[in-house]
Amino acid sequence: MVTYPIDGIEDDMSFLEMLDVLNEELIAKGDDPVEFDHDCREGICGACSLQINGEPHGPDRLVTTCQLHMRKFKDGDTIVIEPFRATAFPVIKDLIVDRSSFDRIQHAGGYISVNTSGNTIDANSIPVNKHDADDSFAAATCIGCGACVAACKNASAMLFTSAKVSQYALLPQGQVEAVERVENMVRQMDLEGFGNCTNTGACEIECPKGISLENIARMNREYLSATTKG
Ligand code: SF4
Ligand code: FES
Repeated sequence: MVTYPIDGIEDDMSFLEMLDVLNEELIAKGDDPVEFDHDCREGICGACSLQINGEPHGPDRLVTTCQLHMRKFKDGDTIVIEPFRATAFPVIKDLIVDRSSFDRIQHAGGYISVNTSGNTIDANSIPVNKHDADDSFAAATCIGCGACVAACKNASAMLFTSAKVSQYALLPQGQVEAVERVENMVRQMDLEGFGNCTNTGACEIECPKGISLENIARMNREYLSATTKG
């Protein structure tokens, strides 16, 4: 851990802008900047994942680190910033962790197969009930940031994986591959070394997109049904 004193931080700066100021100072002095991940800086990509004063994405609710503002802190505060900690998220450098384990869970089943050889059916020709469409859309807002894993005492990826399973499980288009999807994604989640869920609920509280624990219950039902068929 290294403590860096820093001046000139304004209330309406984002947390990442504060780190930019720090890094500009470090670079001007010939020191190495503090490495951190970021991309969109508008709450979409999930790259800017930091543990701030012990909380994934910091003290605010329903925001990512890039949407967190310095007005949430007081002048003179010492802010403790750490990378997300989980065996399945190895630290690359400073505040950057490798979250490719999430990509591999996605690759194991987070998709549907569509015939694009000239026979594509217009998506609107398949009716979807409004309630399911809304729940599917809500699950699909997961940005894969990993805050749920960082918040969990078991480093479980159940909230992330269940959101990715649910977004298809709720739609008719997702039914064709439903059994293989849930089996393969859960298997990959376990292979990556994530822990299991013990219903603590810290993941839901820290999730910047408000992904519901209902998705975990849905994934468990899907998994039970898939593994007891035939
Ligand atoms: S479920 Fe929430 S906390 Fe977990 S990866 Fe998705 S957006 Fe991030
Ligand atoms: S940088 Fe993309 S969500 Fe924060």
